[in-house]
Amino acid sequence: MTSKTNLTINAQRLWDSLMETAQFGGTPKGGIKRLSVSDEDKRVRDWFRAECEKLGCTVEVDEVGNMFATRPGKRSDIAPIAMGSHLDTQPTGGKFDGVLGVLGALEAMRTLVDMEYQTNAPIMIVNWTNEEGSRFAPAMLCSGVYAGVFTPEFAYSREDRAGIKLGDELTRIGYKGTHKAGAIKFSAMFELHIEQGPILEAEAKMIGVVTGVQGMRWYEVTVTGQESHTGATPMSLRKNALLASARMIDAIDAVGMTHLPGVASVGLIENRPNSRNVVPGEVFFTVDLRHPDEKVLDKMETAFRAALPKIAADTKVTFEEKCIWKSPAVKFAPELIDCVRNGAKQAGFTSREMASGAGHDAAYIARVAPTTMIFVPCLGGISHNEAESTTLEECGAGSQVLLNAVLAHDTTLA
Ligand code: GLV
Ligand code: MN
Ligand code: MN
Repeated sequence: MTSKTNLTINAQRLWDSLMETAQFGGTPKGGIKRLSVSDEDKRVRDWFRAECEKLGCTVEVDEVGNMFATRPGKRSDIAPIAMGSHLDTQPTGGKFDGVLGVLGALEAMRTLVDMEYQTNAPIMIVNWTNEEGSRFAPAMLCSGVYAGVFTPEFAYSREDRAGIKLGDELTRIGYKGTHKAGAIKFSAMFELHIEQGPILEAEAKMIGVVTGVQGMRWYEVTVTGQESHTGATPMSLRKNALLASARMIDAIDAVGMTHLPGVASVGLIENRPNSRNVVPGEVFFTVDLRHPDEKVLDKMETAFRAALPKIAADTKVTFEEKCIWKSPAVKFAPELIDCVRNGAKQAGFTSREMASGAGHDAAYIARVAPTTMIFVPCLGGISHNEAESTTLEECGAGSQVLLNAVLAHDTTLA
């Protein structure tokens, strides 16, 4: 049997796979547009399935399109150890958000196969459907279904802004599987991801040992004014939904600024009828509030809700607001966090503990299995951007620590 010390991942092979799959939805600016359950998503899924099958893994798909690739271990009586993340991206996404977690896991699996290393537990790679929540809200949707937070029917009914349903798209691309969500079990999950923030780079640390994920809440607001002629309607008589929304957006920004390190953002806005000589009659926008402490998040919600009625009254519009998603703050499993910390040390990488500002599938999976995450730096902390950049060495370091952590956990299952 191969000894653990021989298990060194191949960073160049990982990089080549990252660059190869970046072509599925590749953008002229070097990013990826691979919206969940799109044609591009099907292409990368087909590629991922084929690569896993080449390694002798069994690939299964559940009813919401989550993909599970499994290599047997010495023991068939214990559940697999999973490594998982997502292959979907933002509309102007980078090459690493999510993808590194799946392909870094694939590289760890390739290394186990090359070295003919037999683990105690089966080892699994998971590609979670619709992590980004960009095409279909909310984020982390199908890891949420796996964890019992949402029903499959809820996931199927999610519509993109064109009114296309996630369930119909899953059928169309051939990824509505037969396994019940949650039925394909694993005993633990490790998720490798880029940090998406500036801390590791600023402190010149290679590995983030992630202790948890901050709480987040999403809202939708529709503001209704009155369409009228821009030339003929005096300023005093307007009911301008866009002006009201602009003031609301400013107030939402202030909610973030007054609850640091909380953050408050409006990322999607639709102005109707969006004609240059019509006073806007209706605006739809989304709100994203986040904080590590649920009590402060409650305060942020109260402050956001308090600001809207006054602005609406001042601008003579009406509005509807609803909370569409709450993902509470999460703490990861101490025994897996130790595996990551030791895995980084074993490989000779500097590390520091940190919480995640971004949402991740790991946040929902932590409800049903011990779970944790590994971060690597990204240039300037920039993510959700086509310019997102992480080096070959950093990607390789993350995959190596992922493998070390999985094997450290596996040795406890002999
Ligand atoms: C997912 O990328 C999120 O943090 O919203
Ligand atoms: Mn991600
Ligand atoms: Mn993302």
